[in-house]
Amino acid sequence: MFLFCSGWWLYITVTCSIICIVIYNFCTSTFSKWEKLNVPYVRPIPLFGNYFKVALGFEHQLDLYKRIYNEFTGHKYAGLFQMRTPYLMIRDPEIINRIIIRDFSYFPNHGVYTDLSVNPLSSSLFNTETPQWNAARHKLSPAFTSGKLKLMYEQIKECGDELMKNISKSVLEHTNNEMEVVDVLGKFSTDVIGTCAFGLQLNAINDDNSEFRKYGKSLFTPSLRVLLRELSLMISPALLKVIKIKEFPAEACEFFHSVFHETITYREKNNIVRNDFVQALMQTRRDLVLNENVHPNDKLTETHILANAFGIFFAGSDTVSTVLSFCLYELALAKNIQDKCREEIKSQISKHNGVIDYTFLTDLNYLDMVLKETLRKYPPGYTLSRQAAQTYHVPYDSLVIEKGQNIIIPLHSLHYDPQYYPNPEVFDPERFSPEEKSKLVKGTYLPFGDGPRICIGIRFAEMEMKLALFEILSKFELEPCGKTDIPLKFNKKAIMVMPENGIWLKFKEIFS
Ligand code: HEM
Repeated sequence: MFLFCSGWWLYITVTCSIICIVIYNFCTSTFSKWEKLNVPYVRPIPLFGNYFKVALGFEHQLDLYKRIYNEFTGHKYAGLFQMRTPYLMIRDPEIINRIIIRDFSYFPNHGVYTDLSVNPLSSSLFNTETPQWNAARHKLSPAFTSGKLKLMYEQIKECGDELMKNISKSVLEHTNNEMEVVDVLGKFSTDVIGTCAFGLQLNAINDDNSEFRKYGKSLFTPSLRVLLRELSLMISPALLKVIKIKEFPAEACEFFHSVFHETITYREKNNIVRNDFVQALMQTRRDLVLNENVHPNDKLTETHILANAFGIFFAGSDTVSTVLSFCLYELALAKNIQDKCREEIKSQISKHNGVIDYTFLTDLNYLDMVLKETLRKYPPGYTLSRQAAQTYHVPYDSLVIEKGQNIIIPLHSLHYDPQYYPNPEVFDPERFSPEEKSKLVKGTYLPFGDGPRICIGIRFAEMEMKLALFEILSKFELEPCGKTDIPLKFNKKAIMVMPENGIWLKFKEIFS
């Protein structure tokens, strides 16, 4: 009996030990990578790598990257582990420029894993990989030229007019003329992207129950689903293949799918041609989806077209509105900078004989410096990502980046590095004056990325942001109020840089 029991216990002990060893090996099997390649790295802990605090929600990814960036001062790069997955952080601006610009052919993709059978809407331009990406980008780029933007100006202006009516009404309704700006600007940017990417006049600004705004917001709202998906992916993409967690809420995907489908069917039936992104997407569909003679490398599917409408909505709505909100916040705190913007507006109005159009906006150079400084302090994305498509020997260095290696470019940390931006916490648009701009180190200012994969919507975003700022600053003076968080607190769970409690400001009407 004793012999039987001890044999039984031995069997359990050996089995458990084997299971523990297998699990431990799984949790640590990737951790020797940086040691072997002689790359300085942050010591990982089993399974979590360097992500323990992030996984438990105690630290924002932004702070993690900042910590690692600062820990490796003096180094050109550093290795880290997102759970089990090894990532290479590049700190050196010269290597950054090589990766994203000069040697782009080695790093053409963002390297974002997605299972298209579970997330069909993820096949937007951002996630599309070469060679298909080349054809898709080539087809979509004409929709973003300054000629096309000039034609879209009127549509955006209409949204700006509604924004101003809404602000004037809200200011009157609220006690002490105080207003939360992130929400109202979020509705404004939803209207703009709704009209340009979906061809619809949404009027989200006056409709608290707007479905577009509701579903749009849900894409950026932190949730357990997002956290679980990210963690599973970092443990192993194979795990995600099994548990199939969606990247975006299913309801939102269905909503955008049916709206876009209805729009293009209606336009095709009624031969409607407009100057907007829908038109560019419909042309891309004719050239790369329906065209039988297209080269297989360039061939896209119906899903790619829909995903790109969705991608433009995703990339272009809350990014613009949060940057605008941060800009108003900084202007409210710096009355002298705010006044200077207003003086420039006045002088340009008389120079342009009162004609406010696309060219007028491009001539607001000081406002441009203010926006650039806002994007330095508050870039919505805090890193750029790339993946090596081939093995790459970094010139004049011993580093060899293996094929398939994921790369992080810590743009937020670079924007706050005092070596490149002295007193980085200070909001100083003069950093981007014509004289100072030429002194900036290339590869250290990347709010829109750079190289062939640079944000396709830069000029569109700039036009939209300048229009909104012009409208607001012409009619109101901004001041902080009792509800303004100074300094700002950031939402630790948000996927973009977002204020935790919104941004409250006092609006004082200008009577002239
Ligand atoms: C302030 C606003 C915006 C910021 C800060 C921003 C930033 C970025 C960044 C950092 C990237 C990645 C670039 C890289 O990897 O080098 C990107 C890509 C992209 N952005 Fe924007 N963006 C903004 C607005 C917009 C708007 C308004 C649109 C469309 C109307 C847009 C569409 C896209 C698309 C489609 C891509 C993927 C490009 C590709 O992979 O070829 N973005 N954006």
